[in-house]
Amino acid sequence: KKITLIGAPIEEGSGRRGCAMGPAALRIAGLDTTLAELGHTVTDEGDLKPLPARDLPNHKGANNLQIVAAYTRALDAAVLDVARSGGIPIILGGDHALAMGSVSGMARHAADLGRPLFVLWLDAHADFNSPATTPSGNMHGMPVAFFCGEAEFTPILDKDRPFVDPKNVFQVGIRSVDEREREEIAEHGVRVFDMRAIDETGMAHIMHEIIATVKAANGLLHVSLDVDFLDPEFAPGVGTTVPGGATFREAHLIMEMLCDAGLVASLDLVELNPFLDDRGKSARILVELTASLFGRRILDRPTRSA
Ligand code: ARG
Ligand code: MN
Ligand code: MN
Ligand code: MN
Repeated sequence: KKITLIGAPIEEGSGRRGCAMGPAALRIAGLDTTLAELGHTVTDEGDLKPLPARDLPNHKGANNLQIVAAYTRALDAAVLDVARSGGIPIILGGDHALAMGSVSGMARHAADLGRPLFVLWLDAHADFNSPATTPSGNMHGMPVAFFCGEAEFTPILDKDRPFVDPKNVFQVGIRSVDEREREEIAEHGVRVFDMRAIDETGMAHIMHEIIATVKAANGLLHVSLDVDFLDPEFAPGVGTTVPGGATFREAHLIMEMLCDAGLVASLDLVELNPFLDDRGKSARILVELTASLFGRRILDRPTRSA
């Protein structure tokens, strides 16, 4: 496969410093060589460093709107470009606000192909706030609302761009949802598998269901992996740890099943904060999981069918 790495050292969406070091840590943990060793053609485009979008006003419900918007625009274009030329973009975050741009770019690509875009959101959080509902003003809590076309954002991107159908968003690992977010995700029909669902039915069952749904619709799948999806025991390098998260084994199973299904068109690796990490542990786990998603396996055994 043709894989293109795009560094997005944005931290202004998160309300604290450190995520800007994420792309460097992922590179140091060997993401490019690991993927190349699996037989892929890997190109690293380096880091985006867009100028703030001075055309936008300051907004009290959207902290650092100008810089977040700049990354959104830059990623929307860069991701579309890579996907259009037959590559798989992997976005090295950077905080989760970057998914406003990466998913928007993939939504355009899917629309060009006449295929639906599905999003697998692996996260402790639903990230369905908007400037009107956010308790924090931090835009990394808003990307899902943004690419579903929900929130009244100032014109960060064109208003008639393709949106993602909220029913095509699968959220797995959710365990921290704000009051208004809870109402919004229910209202919009986002498909949520919280930790309880994982405990009750098991990760394999959930993944079979998701994969079958995407396949039946001939969809493209974008995966957005927030470090805090994982339990802090396995991945401490993130500013918004929430106890009771997914295990390494559960995350690994997701990646192997997705690899077998062959549906993944693009990937975000987000919220890694190397400043808070434990000797590169979280960066390394992200590289391990990405390797599994792109073909590394322990034994040559395909997924048992549903
Ligand atoms: N829901 C909280 C907020 O809106 C936390 C969001 C955390 N998001 C993240 N991508 N880590 O501020
Ligand atoms: Mn998130
Ligand atoms: Mn999160
Ligand atoms: Mn709504």
